Amino acid sequence: AQALDNSPKDEFQELLQTLEQVSWDGVPLVKYCGCWFPVWMFRQILAAQKHYKAKDTDIILSTLPKSGTTWMKALMFSIANRHVFPIDQSPLLTSTPHKLVPPLEFDTFWEQDNNPDLEAIPSPRIFGTHMHFKTLPECIRERNCKIIYICRNPLDQFVSQIHFSSQNRSGRDADPVAIDEAFNMYCQGISPYGPFWDDILGYWNAHLENPGKVLFLKYEDLKEDITSQVKKIAEFMGFPFSLEEEEQGLIDQISGLCSFESLSNLAPNKTGDNNRTVKSSSFFRKGQVGDWTNYLTPAMAERIKNLMDSKFEGSGLMF
Ligand code: A3P
Repeated sequence: AQALDNSPKDEFQELLQTLEQVSWDGVPLVKYCGCWFPVWMFRQILAAQKHYKAKDTDIILSTLPKSGTTWMKALMFSIANRHVFPIDQSPLLTSTPHKLVPPLEFDTFWEQDNNPDLEAIPSPRIFGTHMHFKTLPECIRERNCKIIYICRNPLDQFVSQIHFSSQNRSGRDADPVAIDEAFNMYCQGISPYGPFWDDILGYWNAHLENPGKVLFLKYEDLKEDITSQVKKIAEFMGFPFSLEEEEQGLIDQISGLCSFESLSNLAPNKTGDNNRTVKSSSFFRKGQVGDWTNYLTPAMAERIKNLMDSKFEGSGLMF
């Protein structure tokens, strides 16, 4: 990859050498602005911070990995494009949610080209990101574009992350991390895009400050009542469902298409790689609430709960 700004010296490598790094299940993470970024994404993250030009019509989906990103990408794409593609001709039938809603820190946007032609993407442009609120490109906070954040009970997020990592081990020499070790690291804030509490609190506070700009969702709420959540998401995105659409059952059709059972059985999500060495199928495991009880001891759960109590104290946040 070329140096940022085409400068002869590689500023990125120079910066990287000054930062703390750690191995998480064989994945090198680097600590930058208090957040643990995977090193392989870091160059693109810096480039996106520097070069991305937000439009007021852009919609950003922010998540910690394993919190419902894939589900939200499918829902947001379907909501925004329901007048372009009938449900039975949805691009979700032939492409993955991650291709239809690319990450802002996408390597093909930034690795070879500091000024990619994102202008060509029709509005509303929807991008995903795992950046914490405070590390988002400035223009996202300054412009009128909207942010949708979804989080998930950290106990389930942790368990999902461990499974996802074990599914995508190619290119990693290290033995799979023991769950106890990964758990200890998680409680110290060390996991991809951790500390989890900083990510959640950053978006929670941004939502409290400006609810019209930042929508704060929980995976568990979508599982409990998808219809009301889809309506809420559509309204926030600026594409509310008309009474007629509701009567036609469009909300149910979109929720059905984007359900775990439906998406996980579609051909593009069953085979192939999403990007680099990430298997498309690894974004679908169980899609349940509370699966952590099958993997974590009561003592581990207690430790996370205590951690959440202390970190989220006074915020009004509950899981
Ligand atoms: P589990 O590992 O607990 O099953 P992300 O998309 O952020 O990477 O998150 C992946 C998690 O969301 C996985 O959780 C996956 O099974 C679940 N998931 C993926 N698609 C889903 C859907 N349509 N509905 C509910 N959960 C989904």
